[in-house]
Parts: sequence; structure tokens; C-alpha cells
Amino acid sequence: MKIGVIGAGSVGVGVCNYLLTLGSVSELVLLDNNLERAEGEVFDFRHTAALTFSKNTHIVPTDDYFSLIGADIVVITAGAQIKQGQTRIDLAEINSRIGVDIAKQVERVAPNATLIIVSNPCDLVAHFIAINTNFPRSRVISSGCVIDTARLMSIVANRVNLDPKNVFGYVLGEHGSHCFTPKSLISIAGQSADYYCDTHHIERICADQLLESVKQAGYEIFKRKQNTTHGISASVFRIIQAIMINERSVLPVATLLNGEYGLDNVVLSLPTVVGKNGAESILQHPFTEEEITTLESIATEVNKVVEQVALKTGLASVKA
Ligand SMILES: NC(=O)c1ccc[n+]([C@@H]2O[C@H](COP(=O)([O-])OP(=O)(O)OC[C@H]3O[C@@H](n4cnc5c(N)ncnc54)[C@H](O)[C@@H]3O)[C@@H](O)[C@H]2O)c1
Repeated sequence: MKIGVIGAGSVGVGVCNYLLTLGSVSELVLLDNNLERAEGEVFDFRHTAALTFSKNTHIVPTDDYFSLIGADIVVITAGAQIKQGQTRIDLAEINSRIGVDIAKQVERVAPNATLIIVSNPCDLVAHFIAINTNFPRSRVISSGCVIDTARLMSIVANRVNLDPKNVFGYVLGEHGSHCFTPKSLISIAGQSADYYCDTHHIERICADQLLESVKQAGYEIFKRKQNTTHGISASVFRIIQAIMINERSVLPVATLLNGEYGLDNVVLSLPTVVGKNGAESILQHPFTEEEITTLESIATEVNKVVEQVALKTGLASVKA
């Protein structure tokens, strides 16, 4: 398996770290338009092979897309971070342009790759890539709400003093502000959240408060270290593993919808089967009417931003 990571910044390097220590990758290409930065990271990584349980992966630093020839998976983390005074639309404009430009270059050398989009706002960047390249929608995957869901699991686990892996639930919709968590899908150790809390004399979980805490979690990290790295890197590694070993794991990644839940032409996170063919299918959940209405209003909000970014960048927002 050959994997490319575009962007040798904090997140790109975090993803490489997981791949080298826990993955089984034959070739890893770290591409950055700042070649020295990519080289510095790779030269440093090479020394870990002698000291850790890593698999002696062939790791290459580059600023040349030809190094990605035949890559199976390409992770896009390149782009700007939001700066003070910048709006989400400003960032969306910058990173959508960068994302589409990168994806087009990848398409020339690795047309069968699965792309994982991390650069924020990741769902919008994924939207423009899915529309403005020939990659099938199943192979343009935004990391979406995988990180938000991991935060949810960890917050609930902390409340009930259990391993986060024993908590089940989803954050769905758009990564960032327009997301929701269906309470009916939250369970603890296989039991409904209410049953678990009642039988353990713990206050019941309020889905709205939980969602607020999930949203706040990212800001709290950003406020202190001006980026987020570990959780997102682990989320991306989780998605890569699902593809690499054909796990058919159900993950809340975001892809361009094609009629699911009555929604079209919008990138949202929904429970998606992820395997060797990328985002293989989206599960149909028995959402309540209220949850469907929430999903529809999220789609409307996201589409408004997509149209504004399309106007500013000249990028197509719907398939021709
Ligand atoms: N989706 C999420 O949940 C999530 C979480 C954390 C960060 N992010 C996003 O991921 C992106 C990267 O974050 P980071 O902390 O690693 O940033 P960073 O600034 O540390 O690294 C970005 C890297 O991208 C490179 N780059 C910029 N434009 C490029 C181009 N056109 N081609 C090749 N390389 C290019 C830069 O040289 C830099 O090395 C940001 O957009 C950030 O907002 C998303």
C-alpha cells in the first residue's frame, strides 16, 4: 500500500506518525510545497525505524506530484489555518482553491486513489474536490465528524467512568458548527444511555448539552495550542485503516450525497460503510422526523456557504 500525505504541518506529521508506528504501509510520501519542511520531517522519521516497532516503511519527502504515482490513498492536510479576523468563508475560499488544485495534480498521477480531506472547512473543500475532479464521490472522503464523534465518546465515557470505546454514538452533519447528535443512537456498554445512567444513578445525558461540549472541546484545544493535532491524526488513521484492510467499518465520514435521506449535492457526515472501495455505502437510519428536519436545515446552511465560495472562487458547485 502506497500512501501520500500532502502537507507536512502538524496534522500531516501526526498522520505519518500513526502510519509509521501502527500502520503497515510499504511506501509513504510526504509532500509539501515547502520541500525543506518535508525533508526535515522525513529525515527525522527515518531514525525511528531503528528504535520503534515501525515496519521500516520507505518514506519519501517531496514537492513533486510525480512521487505520488500509483498512490492508493492520499490525505490532504495542506492549507491555511484560520487566522484572527478571518471568516470561515475566507478560509473556505483559500483552502477550497488549494484543495482542488492539489486534487487535480493527484488525479494525473494517481487517478484510482482514495482522497481523505482534512484541510478545513473539510466538508466544503471535499465538496469542491468531488465536483471539480473526476474522482468518484465514494473516493472523496472528508474526515468530517469522525473527530467530533471521538470527542463525544470521550466526553460521555468521562461522565460514566468507562473506556470511551464502550460508548457508542454519532455526531453527524457538518464538521464544525452545523452538526447534530441523534440521542437514540447513543449507547453505553450496549445499553441505552438513559437505562445505563438510571441504573448507575448518574444524571441522564442531555443530547443538546453533549453536542455543545463536543463543539467546545475543539475550541478549548485551539485556544491553548492554536491548533488541534492528536485527535484528528488518530481519526484520519482510523479511516485509513478501514480502507487499507477493508474493514467495512461504519464511520461518520462526510461524502457528497446522492439522494440519501432525500439530500443531494451536499457533503455531510452520515454513518458510512468504509472499506477498500472508500465510502462504500451510507446506512439508512430510522431518524426521527425532527432529526430529518435538522439534517435538511444543515444541508441548506452548508449549501448557502458553498454558493458563496463558488461565487468567490469560480469553482463549480454542481456537476456539469
Ligand atoms: N478536519 C479537522 O478536524 C481538522 C483538524 C485540525 C486541523 N485541520 C486543518 O488541517 C489543515 C492543516 O493543519 P496543520 O495544523 O497541519 O497546519 P500547518 O500550518 O501546520 O501545516 C500546513 C502545511 O501545508 C503546507 N501547504 C500549504 N499550502 C500547500 C500547497 N498548496 N501544497 C502543498 N503544501 C502546502 C504548508 O507548507 C504547511 O506545511 C488546516 O486547514 C487545518 O484547519 C482540520
